[in-house]
Amino acid sequence: MEGLELASRSPEQTHLLGRHLGELAREADVFLLIGELGTGKTCLVQGIADGLAVEEYAFSPSFVILREYQGRLPLYHIDLYRLERPEEIADLGLEEYFYSRGVCVIEWAERAPSILPEENLLVTLRYVADSETGRCICLKPHGERYRQLSNELTVREEIWS
Ligand SMILES: Nc1ncnc2c1ncn2[C@@H]1O[C@H](COP(=O)(O)OP(=O)(O)OP(=O)(O)O)[C@@H](O)[C@H]1O
Ligand SMILES: [Mg+2]
Repeated sequence: MEGLELASRSPEQTHLLGRHLGELAREADVFLLIGELGTGKTCLVQGIADGLAVEEYAFSPSFVILREYQGRLPLYHIDLYRLERPEEIADLGLEEYFYSRGVCVIEWAERAPSILPEENLLVTLRYVADSETGRCICLKPHGERYRQLSNELTVREEIWS
C-alpha cells in the first residue's frame, strides 16, 4: 500500500482521524508525526488520546519532551521540537518507550531519524494553499502491522466523509 491521504477541512476532522487511530492502536504502536509548525500534530495527538480513552489530558508546557498519559494503553507523547543537538537524543533514553507496551506518538520525528523504530506509521501534515483550515494528512505504513492498521482505517467511513 502506498499510503492514505485525508483532506482535513477543520481541527475537528483532524481530531476525528486521531480518535480512530487511538481506537485502533495496539500495544507498542509507533506513530511518527511530521509537519511544519501549526499544521495540527498536537491536535491529532489529542484525538489519539481520546481514542485511547485517556481521561486526564493535561496541557503541559511546550518545553516538555515526554508526556505520559494513562488510557486503555499508556500513551507516550514525545515532542522533539526543542531538541537542539542530535546528541541530546541519546540522553533521553527514548528506546525504553518505543519498545514498551505503550503507544508512542512522536512530533518532529525527523529530528531523531537514527533512533526511530523501522516499523511505524508515518503521518505527514501539510498546509493547503489559500485555506486557513485545510490540511493534507498523509499516512504511510512501514511494516505489516501498520499496513493492517491502514486497512482498518480505510473502512472507517466517518473519517473520510
Ligand atoms: N484542519 C486542521 N487540522 C488541525 N488543526 C487545524 C486545522 N485547521 C486549523 N487548525 C488550527 O491549527 C492549529 C494547529 O495547532 P497544533 O498545536 O495542533 O499544531 P502542531 O503541528 O502541533 O504545531 P507545533 O509544531 O507548534 O507543535 C490549531 O490552532 C488548530 O485549531
Ligand atoms: Mg505540537
